[in-house]
Amino acid sequence: MSALPKIELHHHLEGAAPPVLIRDLARARHVDIGGIFGPDGGYAYRDFQQFLAVYEAATSVLQSPGDYARLTSAVLEQAAAQGVIYLETFVSPDFCGGRDLAAWRDYLHAMQEAAQAAERSHGIVLRGVVTCIRHFGPEKARQTARCAAETMGDFIVGFGIAGDEGAGRPRDFTYAFDMAREAGLGLTAHAGEWGGPQSVREALADLGVSRIGHGVRAIEDPALVAQLADTGIVLEVCPGSNVALGVFPDWAAHPIERLRAAGVKVTVSTDDPPFFHTTMTREYDCLARTFGWQQDDFAAINRVALDAAFCDADTRAELLKRLEPKDA
Ligand code: ADE
Ligand code: ZN
Repeated sequence: MSALPKIELHHHLEGAAPPVLIRDLARARHVDIGGIFGPDGGYAYRDFQQFLAVYEAATSVLQSPGDYARLTSAVLEQAAAQGVIYLETFVSPDFCGGRDLAAWRDYLHAMQEAAQAAERSHGIVLRGVVTCIRHFGPEKARQTARCAAETMGDFIVGFGIAGDEGAGRPRDFTYAFDMAREAGLGLTAHAGEWGGPQSVREALADLGVSRIGHGVRAIEDPALVAQLADTGIVLEVCPGSNVALGVFPDWAAHPIERLRAAGVKVTVSTDDPPFFHTTMTREYDCLARTFGWQQDDFAAINRVALDAAFCDADTRAELLKRLEPKDA
């Protein structure tokens, strides 16, 4: 499965940080990040709120553009080893220079240089989706959207929102999303992970997104499932993340197959791979084992994902050639 070329759309750069990198940086900087690691050396948390706290503690040791260059290189090497040929990762000016535009540009430059080197050596293409953090509130989201709008281009291609889905309402973030849309960025929002169908409806109506991060709890409302299918909204589904965080008790209970059977455009991603002890290959293996998905199913999923990617048309066309089987 690792050899199969893959398109991954839902991935948080800091959330993909190898624990060993975070531990090294914490030691070098004398930063006390408390007990965020378990006995196995991996990230340890009990529930989603604690996951967010551990995520932010780990992120606090990434303090310079150089740290983000190191992070980007490590993450891309690992993703490429899973067969990922195109990765869209969430990056946030909140964590990179505190939403200061000049600092954000420096961080971006470092990430982009690391990405270009990884593309040359591993063939993996990286694009960034600037993400505001819902529990940081609408004012910070506006500043983040401004950073996104000012730096949109051949690397920054989208805008999204992550964080605690229980904090505020999508309409609080309409202004930030309007700014990003006017700049020409693709739009996505985390919804329907912890919130139910209403959360997905509001993200669609109030933020005007073409993709939903997770969206899996739409399954609770057949009318919403039909709406998603009819309008071609793409779900960035991360089954291993959902199972690890307890959104669903196990893989068999996960609705990805029911959503797909209902005609919803689903894609597959890892979200925050080391936090959930997953990789793209493991996601595919579990889907094959649980739902009987085969090569053709994965090929179709990857075409849906490439179609929904926020990259430019030339990049998409190049990637499409790499997705097609060699004997086609
Ligand atoms: N940030 C990182 N991972 C997340 C997730 N699964 N949901 C919301 N915000 C996140
Ligand atoms: Zn996510």
